Amino acid sequence: MPHSPAIDLETIVEPATAVEGYLRTYLAGRCLPVNLQEAIEYALLGGGKMLRPVLVLRCCEAVGGAFEDAMAPAAAIEMIHTFSLVHDDLPAMDDDDLRRGRATLHKHTNEAMAVLAGDAMMGLAYELITTRIVPPSLAIRILTELTTATNNMIGGQVYDTLGDCDEATLPGAVGAMQRLKRIHLNKTGALLRASCRMGAICGQADKPQLAAVTRYAEAIGLMFQVVDDLLDVTQTTERLGKTAGKDVEQDKLTYPALLGLEGTRAEVARLHQEAGKALEPLGEQAVTLRLLADYMAVREK
Ligand code: IPE
Ligand code: IPE
Ligand code: MG
Ligand code: MG
Ligand code: MG
Repeated sequence: MPHSPAIDLETIVEPATAVEGYLRTYLAGRCLPVNLQEAIEYALLGGGKMLRPVLVLRCCEAVGGAFEDAMAPAAAIEMIHTFSLVHDDLPAMDDDDLRRGRATLHKHTNEAMAVLAGDAMMGLAYELITTRIVPPSLAIRILTELTTATNNMIGGQVYDTLGDCDEATLPGAVGAMQRLKRIHLNKTGALLRASCRMGAICGQADKPQLAAVTRYAEAIGLMFQVVDDLLDVTQTTERLGKTAGKDVEQDKLTYPALLGLEGTRAEVARLHQEAGKALEPLGEQAVTLRLLADYMAVREK
């Protein structure tokens, strides 16, 4: 598929601003305890890349839908993602002080508030779907995508943080690579896959379109975390806006740990190519998805 010179990355991610506005208005109208609302806004609207909402909207567009059709899942997925980050940063998990260039929520407020704000964002995300999407059959379909992905993300966090009872039965290098893929496809891939699929479903994708979007999503979903692993060892804390070097410090199973830097870069290139191939059936309408994959392969934060 040829690149369209008329579209640049800034234009592609521009709809994220509308999602931020949508989230702000939604929270303001929700009559939450003031301190909880402030905590959620601090974490949610604090300078994230908003890639998941952009993927929701751009996948909707790539199958012929309009952004308005997919605003609720775009907003909901950012709440689930931010809940996962707030809990990921807690002392009981990765124990991080810095996120999106500023103090993590539990440092900015306290641990109880970070736990509760994370919980609340999960509930609010599902509530957005059930109250804003019609007809109910579509709401149920979207909710199924979102809840399944949330559960898979949590499973991935368990594998990443606590290990898994299968570990003993998967020894050696092959076993380690299988475990690593399982961790990454779940902890990170699941929400990215749901982002793309929810967008396509809201855009009324037919079966081949949904299959193409899903293949793309699975490739970029894994690639995203492989790049995250790479950046953890190659970037500075200042550039990342989160603490670099955490994975080695915490002895995490990562792509650079298993394959080295060159092997990891080769895996990024392979997944990037797979993502591009997956888009072929969607034709020129998917140009923004191709450019997003290009960006995700070379991002520096
Ligand atoms: C960070 O996600 C956590 C991972 C799943 C790797 P992002 O890199 O999308 O974080 P934000 O939303 O831009 O802060
Ligand atoms: C995060 O993985 C995955 C989820 C939050 C679900 P990481 O622990 O690698 O993410 P960062 O590096 O802290 O953003
Ligand atoms: Mg983690
Ligand atoms: Mg972490
Ligand atoms: Mg990381």
